[in-house]
Amino acid sequence: MTLALIILAAGKGTRMRSDLPKVLHPIAGAPLVVHALEAGTPLSPSRRVVVAGHGADLVRDRVQAHDPSVEVVLQVEQLGTAHAVDQARAALAEFEGDAIVLYGDTPFVSVDTLRAMQAARADGADVVMLGFEAAVPGKYGRLVVENDRLISIVEAKDATLEQLEITLCNSGVVCADSATLFDLIAQVGNDNASGEYYLTDIVSIANAAGKQCAAVTCDETETLGVNSRIDLAGAEAVFQAQRRQQAMAEGATLVAPETVQFAYDTQVGRDVLIEPNVVFGPGVVIEDGVTLRAFSHFEGCRVGQGSVVGPYARLRPGSELAENVKIGNFVETKKVQIAAGAKVNHLSYIGDATVGAEANIGAGTITCNYDGVLKHQTIIGEKAFIGSNSSLVAPVSIGAEALVGAGSVIAADVPEGALAVTRAKQENKPGLARRLRARLLDIKAKALK
Ligand code: UD1
Ligand code: CA
Repeated sequence: MTLALIILAAGKGTRMRSDLPKVLHPIAGAPLVVHALEAGTPLSPSRRVVVAGHGADLVRDRVQAHDPSVEVVLQVEQLGTAHAVDQARAALAEFEGDAIVLYGDTPFVSVDTLRAMQAARADGADVVMLGFEAAVPGKYGRLVVENDRLISIVEAKDATLEQLEITLCNSGVVCADSATLFDLIAQVGNDNASGEYYLTDIVSIANAAGKQCAAVTCDETETLGVNSRIDLAGAEAVFQAQRRQQAMAEGATLVAPETVQFAYDTQVGRDVLIEPNVVFGPGVVIEDGVTLRAFSHFEGCRVGQGSVVGPYARLRPGSELAENVKIGNFVETKKVQIAAGAKVNHLSYIGDATVGAEANIGAGTITCNYDGVLKHQTIIGEKAFIGSNSSLVAPVSIGAEALVGAGSVIAADVPEGALAVTRAKQENKPGLARRLRARLLDIKAKALK
């Protein structure tokens, strides 16, 4: 079935108290609206249309940075959910197939639920709404069901006392044939308690026209909407809990799962050991058999099979580690390819560099990659050994099996197999330390008299 997703994301989100449009607030490093989009992605929609309003330019930028094929249409004034969907009418004028409407601030609708809605459509329902049994029905719209048929949806503001007793509530998710949906929406008015064009009105309009409406239900956790920062933190917790379970189910050991923070797209292999307080930013791939030791931070990087990273390491974007690499404590890497078996064990910054297989980078080594204007590359050959506390002033290349003496400032290339040392020659003055100390003690004693 050809499918279009319509994501409503025009609302301001006043209760966020933020200059950022609500749908751009992140969960696990990705904006809420991206989570909503991705919820429908496994259904392989041929079109995805985001309806933006508040902060529309920013919403367009962020959504299209995630995926340039997503279309963004504008709802200048927020006149209600039906009016919002109507803004996608022109974009989908030529489209034939079903449309599913999702909310940009409701990130957790499961693909199984969306498939159940498609199944209800296949069973003959013209309009399928997603409902849930609400613990606290409060302000939610109520689904009025008679003899297994969905008759109407009443907004809480417009409901009778009797209708307010209904606990089956509207999530907002709709599935219908696209042309039918826009026909129904064209008939929605705004004569109600809010003066808004309610998308929910399509149910009674469809029934009056002899069409069939059905309700599919899901768990309330799936329909969790974000309206405040407190909701956002709650949604983050739900996401993290699910993601940790998934990582463990797929064969990773999390020693203290509740302390590990995943990003929306973190990939973790089998037999990976993750110690406490490990944090993943976006774009991280951890291959099989890796150990990530405590308090390490990862972003935009790949850690190859069998590597060991941390504790207290920071892998920044562009860090690519091959197999069996060792990155130790207080090491920062950025835009670096580190070949198999190389070691950077202590207190180093390695950026804009390539490190050859089995190279050993000593404690405190710094690639001086930035001259204040431009960034430059450092190339370290296979089995090279960089002595502790060396500065490699890029652009510079250290040949394979070369050896750099501790404390060197290397600003010129070192040929293969060469030894390079830049320290000034050491001079030992016999007895001088002892004599100096005696003289100072003497001065101190006289001063105290
Ligand atoms: C809506 C439903 C209600 C349901 C509830 C679930 C209607 C009339 N009511 O109510 O039955 O129980 O969601 O959370 O549909 N939006 C726009 N443009 C607009 C209006 C809304 O883009 O003009 C977006 C909002 O940004 C939000 C979503 O649509 O993401 C829902 O709008 P909201 O105003 O929160 O609807 P509710 O009144 O909560
Ligand atoms: Ca709402």
